[in-house]
Amino acid sequence: MTRQDLIAALWHGRDPFADPPADLRPADLQGWRSIHPYLEEAVIDLRPAVIVEIGTWKGASALYLARTLAERGIDGTIVAVDTWLGAVDHWADAGLFAELRTEHGFPSLYRTFLANVLRAGMADRVVPLPLDSVNAAELMRLRGVSADVIHLDAGHEEASVAADLRAWWPVLRPGGLFIADDYDRLGGRFPGVTRAVDAFCAEFGVAGPWSHRGKCKFVKPE
Ligand SMILES: C[S@@+](CC[C@H](N)C(=O)[O-])C[C@H]1O[C@@H](n2cnc3c(N)ncnc32)[C@H](O)[C@@H]1O
Repeated sequence: MTRQDLIAALWHGRDPFADPPADLRPADLQGWRSIHPYLEEAVIDLRPAVIVEIGTWKGASALYLARTLAERGIDGTIVAVDTWLGAVDHWADAGLFAELRTEHGFPSLYRTFLANVLRAGMADRVVPLPLDSVNAAELMRLRGVSADVIHLDAGHEEASVAADLRAWWPVLRPGGLFIADDYDRLGGRFPGVTRAVDAFCAEFGVAGPWSHRGKCKFVKPE
């Protein structure tokens, strides 16, 4: 599926990056573990046409994936799923809450993401999908969009990760790769991620997960 196909399926044919604003924010690629060998290896090994990232924030990891695709000459697209409203960990921390840049009582984080994508010259590699994870998964399923690679980095509570894994599993094609962030067998800051991923892999008989430097990955059986 090309970017144009994805825009037809998800945006009724209207390119969300058409007609960008003149007053773009400065580039600001603050993120967490946005550059990681699992992301690069996923691009190199699978040569994906469609990567879905759930939890994009300012776009640092989505742009790393997009740049890696471009450098390898792979004609793939990142579907960036995010409410751009933040999660509990952002609202509970004063410093991270400030990053949401609320205006009149509503976060304006999307505008930072938009500026980053446009300034990086990667608009033709990214399709934003500003929905919550479960609705986005259902829309993609309804529209017959499947993913070669999924990078999950949204809510980090056990219940939300468990719900996201169930929602997105049908969207991942057989043989596709699932990567989840904030996985740490020693517990770490978000032990619910590890519990949810381990329980999911056990229930669905999935080999792995393999983990490295805070991310884990596993393959959907063919
Ligand atoms: C940790 S940040 C993502 C960081 C990004 N991957 C990076 O490397 O810079 C998590 C993001 O997930 C989004 N998010 C949290 N729960 C979500 C949900 N249920 N649906 C959609 N987006 C969600 C938040 O708005 C936030 O932007």
